[in-house]
Amino acid sequence: MCLQSLSLLLLIFTLFFSPAFAHKKSYIVYLGSHAHPPHLSSAHLNGVAHAHRTFLASFLGSHKRANDAIFYSFKRHINGFAAVLHENEAAEIAKHPDVVSVFLNKGRKLHTTHSWNFMLLEKNGVVHKSSLWHKAGFGEDTIIANLDTGVWPESKSFTDEGYGSVPARWKGSCHKDVSCNRKLIGAKYFNKGYLAYTGFPSNASFETPRDHDGHGSHTLSTAAGNFVPGANVFGLGNGTASGGSPNARTAAYKVCWPPANGAECFDADMLAAFDEAIGDGVDVISVSVGGDAGDYMNDGIAIGSFHAVKNGVTVVCSAGNSGPKPGSVSNVAPWIITVGASSMDREFQAFVELKNGQRFKGTSLSKPLPEEKMYDLINAGDAKAANASTKEALLCKKDSLDPEKVKGKIVVCLRGDNARVDKGQQAATAGAVGMILCNDKASGNEILSDAHVLPASQIDYEDGEAVFSYLNSTKEPKGYISPPASKLNTKPAPFMASFSSRGPNTVTPGILKPDITAPGVNVIAAFTEATSPTDLDSDNRRTPYNTESGTSMSCPHISGIVGLLKTLHPQWSPAAIRSAIMTSSRTRDNRRKPMVDQSFNKSTPFSYGSGHVQPNKASHPGLVYDLTTGDYLDFLCAIGYNNTIVQLFAEDRHYICRQGANLLDFNYPSITVPNLTDSVTVTRKLKNVGPPSTYNAHFREPLGVSVSVEPKQLKFNEIGEVKMFQMTLRPKSSKSLGYVFGELKWTDSKHYVRSPIVVKL
Ligand SMILES: *[C@@H]1O[C@H](CO)[C@@H](O)[C@H](O)[C@H]1NC(C)=O
Ligand SMILES: *[C@@H]1O[C@H](CO)[C@@H](O)[C@H](O)[C@H]1NC(C)=O
Ligand SMILES: *[C@@H]1O[C@H](CO)[C@@H](O)[C@H](O)[C@H]1NC(C)=O
Ligand SMILES: *[C@@H]1O[C@H](CO)[C@@H](O)[C@H](O)[C@H]1NC(C)=O
Ligand SMILES: *[C@@H]1O[C@H](CO)[C@@H](O)[C@H](O)[C@H]1NC(C)=O
Ligand SMILES: *[C@@H]1O[C@H](CO)[C@@H](O)[C@H](O)[C@H]1NC(C)=O
Ligand SMILES: *[C@@H]1O[C@H](CO)[C@@H](O)[C@H](O)[C@H]1NC(C)=O
Repeated sequence: MCLQSLSLLLLIFTLFFSPAFAHKKSYIVYLGSHAHPPHLSSAHLNGVAHAHRTFLASFLGSHKRANDAIFYSFKRHINGFAAVLHENEAAEIAKHPDVVSVFLNKGRKLHTTHSWNFMLLEKNGVVHKSSLWHKAGFGEDTIIANLDTGVWPESKSFTDEGYGSVPARWKGSCHKDVSCNRKLIGAKYFNKGYLAYTGFPSNASFETPRDHDGHGSHTLSTAAGNFVPGANVFGLGNGTASGGSPNARTAAYKVCWPPANGAECFDADMLAAFDEAIGDGVDVISVSVGGDAGDYMNDGIAIGSFHAVKNGVTVVCSAGNSGPKPGSVSNVAPWIITVGASSMDREFQAFVELKNGQRFKGTSLSKPLPEEKMYDLINAGDAKAANASTKEALLCKKDSLDPEKVKGKIVVCLRGDNARVDKGQQAATAGAVGMILCNDKASGNEILSDAHVLPASQIDYEDGEAVFSYLNSTKEPKGYISPPASKLNTKPAPFMASFSSRGPNTVTPGILKPDITAPGVNVIAAFTEATSPTDLDSDNRRTPYNTESGTSMSCPHISGIVGLLKTLHPQWSPAAIRSAIMTSSRTRDNRRKPMVDQSFNKSTPFSYGSGHVQPNKASHPGLVYDLTTGDYLDFLCAIGYNNTIVQLFAEDRHYICRQGANLLDFNYPSITVPNLTDSVTVTRKLKNVGPPSTYNAHFREPLGVSVSVEPKQLKFNEIGEVKMFQMTLRPKSSKSLGYVFGELKWTDSKHYVRSPIVVKL
């Protein structure tokens, strides 16, 4: 989701499970995999839908009732259906031996392009031979899909000049509202889960894959938009916009709709879209959507992405915008690539100047003040309307400011609660000429460049305190906001965004999540022209490109890079691609110091996973930690699912949980021991994907833990060769130190295959 509406959504999030129609709710009945091969005739697919109705009829008493209740049959890859049921019917169905799970159709939240320069795919507009862009033909012919708010097909990011014919393997199509071309090759919508939950009757605005929000166009173009010169936001950040795989084909699956009770994207619609996208032949699915992390079998994104990965499709998801709270990370299934968000080295600087000579660096994408002069300043708390509280006024909430006190002045508001752009709107409505938006303590140094409706600048927490204390101690405070200007090579970069959701992983503490971080702060990409950049009704501005911030924006950066790797190494599995991205990442910033968080404190793998992506290095990782579908089934056994369930989840009805399947031996590219009381041994397998070479193990022990690796040297003679090693971890004392971090690095001095080690003592 994008951050603008974050606080509002968090507020309503708790209302998710109390919809208006308590007697009947929409559910997903998940039956695991199909026994049939995926490419069936439509007659066979109708047969599957009929079988679902017959199955449901055995509980509801008649075919007619089953027919009325079912609104989706998942027929191709995912086996199951979505239906409106009574709670007790759902409970009965859940008991049937063919059923993996029955869960509520939950709502989820949605979570330029200098970033590629920052990641060295280009340097000042020049693409070098060593760039992954060059090596991978800019992602040519890879098909990248997103599950999001749809697409604005008129965007220059999706024109098809210079593209050859659509790859023959493509089986997808476009809804009539979107005239597809050789760049945008698919556009479909899925709304039945949303309509079942909200009870809205369907109408034209729900029957189109067109993007009325901007989020979907932004994420899809970040993954795979064309090179578009002269892209800017009201003149700022002017440059060439581009996706990570600029020559890839794109397909939009619209599953997110206007927020209703805080939820916008529903599990039933997402499952239907996953099933369709896998069948259509996409290579990468980008999902900038999430809810609370929970049981994998009751989670539409976990289930849909499992079926995708099983079919060789890589799934990339946002980690969520609920940081910096520990344990807030979502989309944690181990077959997903989970992406956190961090800054890049560009700022849109708008300086705040006070009459006492103090000057603070802030940011925005707003227009300049009408005159270059000192304006009167007022603390929004002091400008409260008669019927509002100081607290509300300080936050510049709706109807909290007194126009008489505010008129013609620059209002100083505090960040938090309502959307940042809404504060600007409230200040403007009350007659202010400008706004200084001061960070609260929690958001620290993270300042976001928004297209505010009035001249504005957002400043960090410490600077905000200085402004408030100037206001407190001065009779006639005055100040100025300089017009925003873009500045490059800012330091430190990257640093973690405060909003980026953090580990530990609350569902499976033995797997580190997120996996990786990528740019997600002030990202410029394509937008919709159906709404304004602030999404406020009163804002009549339109812009083809816009900045947004969120893990929703970092996720498609990784999807674009996956597209490049897929073009370059078509035979690599989704797990090999993820391993390459993770083990080649970096944990230092552009000062060569350890990456920091929004307070400029040292960050940890709970924020960035293995580190910040380095796409050029990911193209030749040397070695990968690979995983197969069987490994994922073993994983499910290891965390306690029984044979019966795992067999349904697998295609292979004869799959038997391996005796002693152990999470410590799950071949993940990071190593996590959530409870080290005694010595434990972790097993990993490395596959050579580079030239023959000899690798040596180096490691940094976590505080209070002794580490040994056996063997210490691995010699690979050919491509595809697999070698095993074991790492033993022992606590040095019985002291509880909480979480401690180290790292393991295999190197032949050309490749550095690095894994974070996370231990709880
Ligand atoms: C469709 O229905 C929704 C909810 O009932 C409503 O807000 C919207 O304005 C309608 N759109 C059209 C085009 O009728
Ligand atoms: C953006 O840059 C291009 C190329 O340098 C230039 O032609 C164009 O006028 C610029 N646009 C703006 C709004 O600055
Ligand atoms: C305060 O009064 C104004 C005008 O009477 C009204 O529009 C507004 O809703 C009130 N605000 C609050 C917070 O009650
Ligand atoms: C400014 O004054 C207000 C109210 O008098 C107080 O709550 C606040 O802490 C002061 N802020 C600073 C930075 O001095
Ligand atoms: C950052 O570090 C300082 C000093 O160690 C500490 O006081 C502060 O609470 C930390 N901030 C966060 C957000 O962890
Ligand atoms: C497997 O687990 C499911 C769900 O927890 C349970 O209903 C079932 O009885 C279990 N089966 C066996 C053979 O233990
Ligand atoms: C941690 O490990 C010990 C010993 O292996 C075990 O008794 C305990 O239940 C574990 N605690 C957790 C939270 O897993």
